[in-house]
Amino acid sequence: MKRIYLDHSATTHVDTRVLEAMLPYFSEKFGNASSLHSFGQEAAEALAISRELVAAALGANPREIIFTSGGTESDNIAIKGAAYMHSSKGRHVITSVIEHPAVLRTCEELEREGFEVTYVPVDSEGILDLKFLEDSIRHDTILISIMHANNEIGTIQPIKKISELISGREIILHTDAVQSVGKISTDVNELGVDMLSISSHKLHGPKGVGALYLRSGVNIMPLVQGGGHERGLRPGTENIPGIVGFAKAMSISKEQLEEDSKHMQHLRDSMIKNIQSRIPHVRLNGHEKTRLPNNVNMSFRHVEGESLLMLLDMNGVAVSTGSACSSKSQKASHVLTAIDPGVEYIHGSLRFTLGRENIMEEIDIVVDLLEEAVMKLRQLSPFEEEV
Ligand SMILES: Cc1ncc(COP(=O)(O)O)c(C=O)c1O
Repeated sequence: MKRIYLDHSATTHVDTRVLEAMLPYFSEKFGNASSLHSFGQEAAEALAISRELVAAALGANPREIIFTSGGTESDNIAIKGAAYMHSSKGRHVITSVIEHPAVLRTCEELEREGFEVTYVPVDSEGILDLKFLEDSIRHDTILISIMHANNEIGTIQPIKKISELISGREIILHTDAVQSVGKISTDVNELGVDMLSISSHKLHGPKGVGALYLRSGVNIMPLVQGGGHERGLRPGTENIPGIVGFAKAMSISKEQLEEDSKHMQHLRDSMIKNIQSRIPHVRLNGHEKTRLPNNVNMSFRHVEGESLLMLLDMNGVAVSTGSACSSKSQKASHVLTAIDPGVEYIHGSLRFTLGRENIMEEIDIVVDLLEEAVMKLRQLSPFEEEV
């Protein structure tokens, strides 16, 4: 059975070009970038080049890139680091109700420490209520953290507008761009952000590595103490193979951005159209247009998402219910709860996230299998008869 992977927002396979770039740094080029000898210099040079590549992909300066272990760590360093550093100016933070747990749990921790956090709601398509955000800004607001694109429903938030809204004020703007890098433009100056989180494994790079973009002149407090690596903000011997792979993945993503997103968008639109025309009582979650080119999130009336996922998995198709991170809990996803697709739909949601290597033939196979699985489960549903 040929397996079909449509869960690229959970993680991606490492691109062969990325793997090739990484391999020497596990073996002959194994030096510590802080060592003064030639082995160390080799590693330091790789680190410097990687920093340049990642910066170039974001339109940033290499000094503004802090390598981390991934999206979760970048979000923590950014949010807590900014809050602690500027707490004497104010203790109010703004975020949204549909952030990733890496942001939500961090904000909750800040609340336990005495900060105040406002959670901005979204509309039924998952787009942030900008007016609510504007009205929430106070004299003691020090930080706004709003994700660039949502990991479950793929909606893209108006980051540039938020940046314009707070221009001239002393408020730091952070965005979690873990899902958007490599899918849509993430130029830090176009977006107007002060901090931006990235994760390598979402863009065909290795796991356990990522970066925080930190605009020059923006100061944050380090959360971990050590040997001063990464400008003291993320001390610890650098993960050179991982960083080299991540940088390679970033430059490939940047180079292929237009071609890849056009391809994925074509597959996405065709998949949505086919599902809607062949399966009755379905709902597209998230905004129809303002969404990532690779995201299809749909709810099927009176069907359990988990059962649907298992039926597809038995046929070699990998998808997700909600986000991979919350899919082990029985609770309805906080993102779907926020957009409220209705009780008959909320538990029957599936997220299909496409990758640059998926082809139309795979999408056609998945829609066939999906139609069959939905019909089968609806025949078993006691609620379907009542309608
Ligand atoms: C929006 C978002 N932020 C943060 C993360 C966490 O990234 P990482 O797995 O690199 O810690 C994820 C991962 O699913 C994500 O989708």
